[in-house]
Amino acid sequence: MTAAETLSEAFHGFYGTQSKTYRAPGRVNLIGEHTDYNQGFVMPAAIDFSIWIAIAPREDRTLSVRSENFSETAELDLDCPPSRGIGHWSDYPFGVALKLEESGHRLRGANLLVRGEVPIGAGLSSSAAIEVATGLALLDNSEIEIDRLELAKICQQAENEYVGMRCGLMDQFISCFGQAGHALMLDCRSMNYEPLALPESVKLVVCNTGVKHQHAGGEYNVRRTQCDEGVRLLSSALPAIQSLRDVQPSQLEQHKHLLPELIYRRCRHVVTENERVQRAAEALLLGHLPALATLMAESHRSMRDDYEISCAELDTMVEIAGVQSGVIGSRMTGGGFGGCTINLVRADAAAAFRHAVAIEYQTRTNIYPDIYVLSASEGVHEVAAGKLVG
Ligand code: GLA
Repeated sequence: MTAAETLSEAFHGFYGTQSKTYRAPGRVNLIGEHTDYNQGFVMPAAIDFSIWIAIAPREDRTLSVRSENFSETAELDLDCPPSRGIGHWSDYPFGVALKLEESGHRLRGANLLVRGEVPIGAGLSSSAAIEVATGLALLDNSEIEIDRLELAKICQQAENEYVGMRCGLMDQFISCFGQAGHALMLDCRSMNYEPLALPESVKLVVCNTGVKHQHAGGEYNVRRTQCDEGVRLLSSALPAIQSLRDVQPSQLEQHKHLLPELIYRRCRHVVTENERVQRAAEALLLGHLPALATLMAESHRSMRDDYEISCAELDTMVEIAGVQSGVIGSRMTGGGFGGCTINLVRADAAAAFRHAVAIEYQTRTNIYPDIYVLSASEGVHEVAAGKLVG
């Protein structure tokens, strides 16, 4: 049986009716970290770990959401909504439902069953995946069509305002727009994107440090505030800038005296990272993999030393990966403070890489890491009998 079939069978067992199934992917980001909320450039790829949702309508305006992973059911009355989340997994689906309603999309009640394959707290965007899957499922269930960019933005708004994490748009965007076999070079100001084919001879190998990150209300939001502060201080010399996207590395150097040292380093990460993403896109287009490797290494150092979002385990994982044969590039991926590294590895070396990194990482940290060999996949879709629909 396909995953969609087992899910609809489980739905029938729990709610006693037929259902429709949707899946939305998690993501890795090849390069361009903490640049999205600075209106900069990112290069994510959707991955073949997804959140699956089965859904069927109800007669009332209640949403009942059953999580297979947590073996728990949560309910929400759409006519009596709370204004903020309560720090529970159900904040993600309920936040999306409420933001859809606030944007004028009146929803029908529904029963939902959620199955998650994206590891939680690993920096692979399980949150965006559950938001986007819920959003499309609820909209289709209410026979409402909206464009995917609007869906991504409403999901981001749910996370910003209902969950309390001031994330940018990258994760929700790639979960909506992902393309099989491609990363997307996305301009987070214009929202224009270019699909970049990933060479077939290269695998995306994701190494999970086993250290869980915790974003909401934490250091992530502090970084955003520091970037805003950098823009405010730099504007006295550069009045035209609206965000760090508008600042060139040379301008930052010229005006660094305006900034406290910590804010300067935060800004330096963002402005140099924006430049690296653009160079990485060129390198990928030209098939110039050594250049990509250098940019990934520089990106990791910048996140470790300037933005200070890495941790000892992530640094160890990158260090171990760097000396394996067949590795093209390695860096931490996602919000940071734990989670995963992304490694581009020659396909013929991937199995040996996985084995050697796991053993060495365990020896050095006492943690046996999960290591996944992944492919770039499609964005959110309805799934019927194991096939993509529409
Ligand atoms: C998290 C956020 C994204 C992005 C990354 C860092 O995944 O959800 O919006 O800021 O961190 O690049």
